Amino acid sequence: MVGVPGFCAYFGLKEIGRPRAGETAVVSGAAGAVGLAAAQRAKLESCRVVGTAGSLDKVDYLRDEIGLDAVINYKTTGDLRTALEAACPDGIDVYFDNVGGDVTQAVLALINRRAHIVICGQTSQYNAPSDSGRFAPELLIKNSARMQGFVVYDYADRNDEALARLGQLIRDGRLHYRENIVDGLEHAPQAFIDLFEGKSFGKQLVRLVQDPLVSGTVSECRGRMPAAYFR
Ligand SMILES: NC(=O)c1ccc[n+]([C@@H]2O[C@H](COP(=O)([O-])OP(=O)(O)OC[C@H]3O[C@@H](n4cnc5c(N)ncnc54)[C@H](OP(=O)(O)O)[C@@H]3O)[C@@H](O)[C@H]2O)c1
Repeated sequence: MVGVPGFCAYFGLKEIGRPRAGETAVVSGAAGAVGLAAAQRAKLESCRVVGTAGSLDKVDYLRDEIGLDAVINYKTTGDLRTALEAACPDGIDVYFDNVGGDVTQAVLALINRRAHIVICGQTSQYNAPSDSGRFAPELLIKNSARMQGFVVYDYADRNDEALARLGQLIRDGRLHYRENIVDGLEHAPQAFIDLFEGKSFGKQLVRLVQDPLVSGTVSECRGRMPAAYFR
């Protein structure tokens, strides 16, 4: 969380999404490492936050444990646009996009004037033909909306700022994260494939060695590590 995924959420929302209290923010891939951080950051800005995810356990977790206002299972919901309309009665002001494709098409149809659209990832499109022709720029014109992509390294000179803010939120119990750890480099290819099949939940990690210093939860590790690691 306090690494690339958290930094993406932090800078993408702060600099591009710019959510304001009372606005509606939609986060796609909300149970992924980036999405989970982005959805919680938008909640902390007092937005109505709607997430999309692809399984019942992810939907339950995001709604019941993370406290999102609505969560849509994009695989089972039927008509995505209808589900989004019901979840976003005042339209969509901020869209933090991790997945692209059908979810994004449905979201773009519901954006408000001067919406901010953060293109962080396009997971559903990475293995798709590049000429699907589905992008609808006319919706940006009509709504005077702003769509912007970014790479987390654009803000590399401000990593300390994100680290401090995210670390504090985690220490305060206001930012939660999940990790899915598989042991052994030999399982890395399958772990990678699982990312595209929605099998991972939270940040997917591959543990190369069983090091007693760094095994266990963060708080368990913390107890074993020199205090200097956590300054
Ligand atoms: N801009 C940057 O600097 C930057 C940096 C890091 C990552 N990224 C991008 O940000 C995105 C999120 O990263 P992450 O680390 O959070 O990834 P992640 O943990 O793998 O989460 C991605 C989630 O997307 C969902 N998904 C997979 N295939 C899908 C499909 N066809 N349609 C809709 N949803 C699908 C899966 O959950 P479901 O069960 O919900 O389907 C998966 O858990 C990725 O696209 C990544 O490439 C960008």
